[in-house]
Amino acid sequence: MQTSQTVTDNVTGKGSETGEDAALPPAYGYLDIDADTARDASRRYWDDAAADYQAEHGEFLGDSDFCWSPEGLRESDLRLLGDVAGRTVLEVGCGGAQCARWLHGQGARVVAFDLSSGQLAQARAYAASTGIDVPLVQADAMALPFADACVDVACSAFGAVPFVADSGAVMREVARVLRPGGRWVFSTTHPFVWCLPDDPDDTGLRIYHSYFDRRAYTEHDEQGHAIYTETHRTIGDRVREIVAAGLVLHDIIEPEWPKDQDRTWGQWGPRRGEYVPSTSIFVTSRPPAG
Ligand SMILES: C[S@@+](CC[C@H](N)C(=O)[O-])C[C@H]1O[C@@H](n2cnc3c(N)ncnc32)[C@H](O)[C@@H]1O
Repeated sequence: MQTSQTVTDNVTGKGSETGEDAALPPAYGYLDIDADTARDASRRYWDDAAADYQAEHGEFLGDSDFCWSPEGLRESDLRLLGDVAGRTVLEVGCGGAQCARWLHGQGARVVAFDLSSGQLAQARAYAASTGIDVPLVQADAMALPFADACVDVACSAFGAVPFVADSGAVMREVARVLRPGGRWVFSTTHPFVWCLPDDPDDTGLRIYHSYFDRRAYTEHDEQGHAIYTETHRTIGDRVREIVAAGLVLHDIIEPEWPKDQDRTWGQWGPRRGEYVPSTSIFVTSRPPAG
């Protein structure tokens, strides 16, 4: 879930600043970014941030629970994946693999993967503390090391999709590994969030950036290496990527902020949640054979 606020120390967390050295990219700003740069930045960022991320959000997520979003939506209530008992399920961008452990408890055969060895180390620590050990793989969501048509269900709670340079490639890869009739459900940042400052309070309630700007929000270190990237697709882009991958789109869930939830998560919070969604959940499937 969006974390740029923790990296930059500026009002919006999404501003643009020219580096002191004109030969270097800006400290933060919007850039066209290639897949390798985004992958390297994400791996480095999540390796460094994994322990802090779990310390800050682990209790809210639950060590073996399936939380779709900072609104606190749980799969135990939504049941977007259907009955997973006996099904082979792939968790994409699993972080600490909380969702995978919950799915295991529902009787699924689960494999969870993530790009970051730091996040996978956290997942192993949770496996030790909970006694629930699901298979973990280190992989990039844009190039899955799995056979065609080998999983019944794929899912992701803010894993990979908000960070990759080409989310269309993720849709194609997931479609490839899904069996005909299989379901792919993923939550990601709501596209409208791209327009808003990274702030859960009143500062976050104004449009300051173009919805149509598809360049990646990127942060660089003093040597000019990308250390954080986040990417944007409009609602139409997401629909086109899903359809182009041969998937059927069943629903786009835009959750309202729950009345009893006052915890903020980065720019997600009750103040903005009164007016606009910050999460979108896409419910898709691969068409049945024949
Ligand atoms: C916001 S965390 C979400 C993790 C977990 N699903 C949760 O709800 O806590 C995003 C995760 O996506 C992973 N990620 C980023 N880019 C990825 C990629 N290209 N392939 C696989 N995982 C990726 C990160 O390492 C990180 O663990």
